[in-house]
Amino acid sequence: MIYYNDRLARYIADLFAPQDAALLRALTESPQRGLPAINIQPEEGRFLQFIARACGAKKALEIGTLGGYSGLWIARGLAPGGKLITLEADSAHAAVARDHFDAAGLADTVEIRIGDAHDTLRTLAAESPFDFVFIDADKPGYPAYYEWAMSHVRIGGVIAAHNAFRYGNIVDPADATPDTDIIRAFNRRVAADPRVISTIFPGGDGTLIAVKIA
Ligand SMILES: C[S@@+](CC[C@H](N)C(=O)[O-])C[C@H]1O[C@@H](n2cnc3c(N)ncnc32)[C@H](O)[C@@H]1O
Repeated sequence: MIYYNDRLARYIADLFAPQDAALLRALTESPQRGLPAINIQPEEGRFLQFIARACGAKKALEIGTLGGYSGLWIARGLAPGGKLITLEADSAHAAVARDHFDAAGLADTVEIRIGDAHDTLRTLAAESPFDFVFIDADKPGYPAYYEWAMSHVRIGGVIAAHNAFRYGNIVDPADATPDTDIIRAFNRRVAADPRVISTIFPGGDGTLIAVKIA
């Protein structure tokens, strides 16, 4: 018997993921400023915040900033003195996110690096190891982002990747769109990877989560 449903998701969000003015501002202002409403859900944000703190993250990396909503949650989960670097290809998205991080008092905690993440990651290698990496950008990039993270996260560090359910279509054989097929293959690959212990957090659109053990 499976009990999880939208009402229980709301229950978790209401109880564990209350949103203050900074989070609500990022949520409402981003679409008003022209950004797509493709941010994570509050309970997913709380989950990322929890994981960041549980693994003692002092150095975290996000791939896919958008308006800064998920970044706010992650930054608030960092260990004291921790830093989040977040990568964004679109400078208009980055400008909106910058405002949201600054308004939340996180100007010194969060650094946005603008550019294609595939390029930025090459220069970021020198700043490794990272404790936590959250992947939430172009789906074709996921396999490369994951391998980069596996090479630059410490043992015991955590890698998370959003949209593991592809809006629920992951289990729909009729959906053979390229992005869904990419995520299907990606989920299978991480599930079988002996270097990690992994699973999917089923809140929102699903977050694949992997702790590096080797
Ligand atoms: C799903 S949104 C991120 C949502 C955000 N994590 C949140 O929940 O608030 C994906 C973001 O990744 C950015 N993006 C897509 N491809 C990228 C790439 N190759 N390099 C860097 N950013 C990229 C997009 O511009 C977009 O802002």
